[in-house]
Amino acid sequence: MAVAKTLGQFIIEKQSDFPYKKGEISRLLRDLGIAAKIVNKAVNKAGLMGILGEAGTQNVQGENQKKLDIYANQQFISALKNGGECCIVVSEENDDFVYIDSEISKNAKYIVAIDPLDGSSNIDVNVSVGTVFSIYRRKSPAGKVAIDEILQKGTEQLASGYIIYGSSTMLVYTTGKGVNGFTLDTSIGEFCLSHPDMRIPVTGQVYSINEGYYSHFPEGVKQYIKYCQVEDKDTYRPYTSRYIGSFVADVHRNIIQGGIFIYPSTAQAPGGKLRLLYECNPLAFIIEQAGGVASDGYNRILELEPYELHQRSPIFIGSREMVKKAEEMMDSFSPQIKYVSMVKAKNINIQP
Ligand code: AHG
Ligand code: MN
Ligand code: MN
Repeated sequence: MAVAKTLGQFIIEKQSDFPYKKGEISRLLRDLGIAAKIVNKAVNKAGLMGILGEAGTQNVQGENQKKLDIYANQQFISALKNGGECCIVVSEENDDFVYIDSEISKNAKYIVAIDPLDGSSNIDVNVSVGTVFSIYRRKSPAGKVAIDEILQKGTEQLASGYIIYGSSTMLVYTTGKGVNGFTLDTSIGEFCLSHPDMRIPVTGQVYSINEGYYSHFPEGVKQYIKYCQVEDKDTYRPYTSRYIGSFVADVHRNIIQGGIFIYPSTAQAPGGKLRLLYECNPLAFIIEQAGGVASDGYNRILELEPYELHQRSPIFIGSREMVKKAEEMMDSFSPQIKYVSMVKAKNINIQP
């Protein structure tokens, strides 16, 4: 069997794909890969390291932080600090952005938005979790980074990716030239190319949504769920419902098998639950590069204007034909103008 190509070899090989000075993206991805290996070890032995369960603190989202949320956050931020390429980190676990002013980072040009541990509610029950990252370049040449350099649209991403800590640990990323997946070979401690040029099937038979919130879904979402459940041999319906509760794991499954993931507006989260900067945008970049579609039900995710670090968005993401069908339902049954005014009205009354 041919010796597998490591992540490091692959990045160097593809370095010319990446604009700007050679090597910068390589070092950034290397730094993220180092932290991923450390977090992977902790995820695999969490039960033995006393880092399961709640940390007893809440993040800016008002969510109870798990010990592993905090541990993973520390590992990724310190790897980025030591690598010297990153000047700003936006993390789900930090209220404000983290300004990296270490000596080695004084000429750093890159901004990393990160969800250090996605799906943390699954940690204590041994179900797949992940990490999501997004890489932007600062607009100003040096000095203090202004907030508008951080709140860039998803189309400005230079790279994005995720790590999935599942039955095997994989790192999947794009720099805008397709999507490639690497599996961690723990015997040599290297991520090795296992899924070159990943493409999501144009359609699929899996729909992924938390139907527990059905009663408050927009009518268009209800109509799409009904469409998925109708018997129709020609279109392979009824589809199968699969919901892991880890965004990364649900989306990764859909990239491999085909499918759609929806986290729409709900009563608890009228603007959607998933965060634009470090969940929706990075996976929208990946899915589009793999031939899929990602929208908020009406608008391309990557075109949404960010206005704050932890902004949320509804998300419909996956196989092209399935997302298009769901968008048709939204257009027919929950026309955007009505939907936006409903969300705005609710947001005015409900704190995020
Ligand atoms: P995180 O653990 O980073 O907060 O993300 C959890 C997210 C996402 O991974 C998942 O799809 C969603 O929360 C599940 O939410 P519900 O439990 O409301 O379905
Ligand atoms: Mn998450
Ligand atoms: Mn998280």
